[in-house]
Amino acid sequence: MEPLPMALLFVIPFLLLLRPKGLPIIGNMMMMEQLTHRGLAKLAQKYGGIFHLKMGYLHMVTISNPEMARQVLQVQDNIFSNRPATIAISYLTYNRADMAFAHYGPFWRQMRKLCVMKLFSRKRAESWESVRDEVEKLVKAVSANTGKTVNVGELIFNLTKNITYRAAFGSSSQEGQDEFIKILQEFSKLFGAFNIADCIPWLGWVDPQGLNSRLEKARHALDKFIYTIIDDHIQKRKTNVNGGAGGYYDPDMVDELLAFYSEEAQVNESEDLNSIRVTRDNIKAIIMDVMFGGTETVASAIEWALTELMRSPEDMKRVQRELEEVVGLDRRVEESDLDKLPFLKCCLKETLRLHPPIPLLLHETAEEAVVAGYRIPAKSRVMINAWAIGRDKKSWEDAESFKPRRFMKEGMPDFKGSNFEFIPFGSGRRSCPGMQLGLYTLDLAVAHLLHCFTWELPNGMKRSELYMSDVFGLTAPRATRLYAVPKNRLVCSLF
Ligand code: HEM
Ligand SMILES: *[C@@H]1O[C@H](CO)[C@@H](O)[C@H](O)[C@H]1NC(C)=O
Ligand SMILES: *[C@@H]1O[C@H](CO)[C@@H](O)[C@H](O)[C@H]1NC(C)=O
Ligand SMILES: *[C@@H]1O[C@H](CO)[C@@H](O)[C@H](O)[C@H]1NC(C)=O
Repeated sequence: MEPLPMALLFVIPFLLLLRPKGLPIIGNMMMMEQLTHRGLAKLAQKYGGIFHLKMGYLHMVTISNPEMARQVLQVQDNIFSNRPATIAISYLTYNRADMAFAHYGPFWRQMRKLCVMKLFSRKRAESWESVRDEVEKLVKAVSANTGKTVNVGELIFNLTKNITYRAAFGSSSQEGQDEFIKILQEFSKLFGAFNIADCIPWLGWVDPQGLNSRLEKARHALDKFIYTIIDDHIQKRKTNVNGGAGGYYDPDMVDELLAFYSEEAQVNESEDLNSIRVTRDNIKAIIMDVMFGGTETVASAIEWALTELMRSPEDMKRVQRELEEVVGLDRRVEESDLDKLPFLKCCLKETLRLHPPIPLLLHETAEEAVVAGYRIPAKSRVMINAWAIGRDKKSWEDAESFKPRRFMKEGMPDFKGSNFEFIPFGSGRRSCPGMQLGLYTLDLAVAHLLHCFTWELPNGMKRSELYMSDVFGLTAPRATRLYAVPKNRLVCSLF
């Protein structure tokens, strides 16, 4: 190629990079409320499927179109698979000692392998069992309150908290749960808090929200909590190894991780799982990933599914008719029934399309890249708007409406990650490793709640009055909790 056209090729895409104009340095920092999935979707209607924002020194690129999402998550995923980390995230994850916030590389690969094979795998029967047990407790709790108004949202959040807490720490340690949840809630706030030092490092000393001392306190609280738990588990392991008789116990996630414990971290390129070594910081950070990754996401999906179905009585009737025909009103749903409930699955898919629990996938570029002709600088924060993509008018007919039937058609997109118009679990290297466990909880909880009970809105509230807003954080649950009145539906006794 001649020198001149070659140069033009590079220059033109650079000039084409669209960006809403902003002040120098401060850039678009006044746009905080626009930086949610909804705000960014609006900007995308104006500026297109890819656009650029500058916050202080930070470059942000937003992707809101399926084809460009494919570019980023599949075609060029080797460049786009890092994670951005704010000061809060780096501090609270022990400088990315976990999997979810680790950069793409050998350390992340080993952590991911460890988690996928040892923690989230179908082979770890204990996790699946804790789902069944806790769903059972949920049905009991609801049936003790039939005819009364129940805070369904909180009940479901308690369910998923219990599931992840048990999977992580075992069932013996319920006492610490309230303390742990408090610590995590503070973490969640700190993860979401806007810190000016992330955009303009030399302004860090200003710290008007007192973030620095809150960060220190929160990390100290978690340290103390998990140190006790890890020490207890080390003790338990010793007695189990030496104790011999009756040494059987259900290993929880901390036990599984302790099998790889060593004082020194060790990153080893070897493909052998047994060569992985993790430190206390790694164990703490991974347990945090599980609590954050598995609790609000699943709770949000269950609550949205029930809310959408209560707003759409025809679909509710059809799901319940399916349950009646496949399972029958004379017994409870069992695991083997789940695969015979196609319409229920469609309702859950439609829920994940309209309400992906993680609306914005956060990635970072490892080096400079070009997408759709636009140059994206190295270390840019890339936000893939899964929420906007699920509502893309070119990909979805009547995109804003809840219409589970659409998924009954042959050849409709699936969320496994190869249809980029539907990516509630992401796609590719950084996609959700807990998908199966999450879907199992979602399926089982919704099937039980709809098979055992009919649901009515409290105090003559109308369907149209159901508040459909979401709030923005790492996840996007409903802005208000769902309240409803359950009535028994089965002709057999529930227990
Ligand atoms: C309905 C339930 C769930 C949904 C919709 C969901 C969705 C997602 C999404 C969208 C991502 C990010 C993908 C990306 O950045 O490209 C993710 C990552 C992750 N999820 Fe989930 N998730 C769910 C349940 C779970 C559960 C139950 C667990 C664990 C027990 C879990 C653990 C994680 C972890 C550790 C990551 C980070 C992976 C990495 O960075 O390599 N998730 N999830
Ligand atoms: C959820 O758990 C909290 C704390 O354990 C408890 O106070 C609350 O009553 C529970 N909510 C419901 C609806 O069961
Ligand atoms: C969660 O576990 C606690 C302690 O075992 C229990 O009291 C509560 O009812 C459980 N919540 C749900 C929703 O199952
Ligand atoms: C990686 O692990 C293998 C097997 O345990 C060992 O032989 C090798 O020396 C290790 N490499 C490094 C760099 O530690």
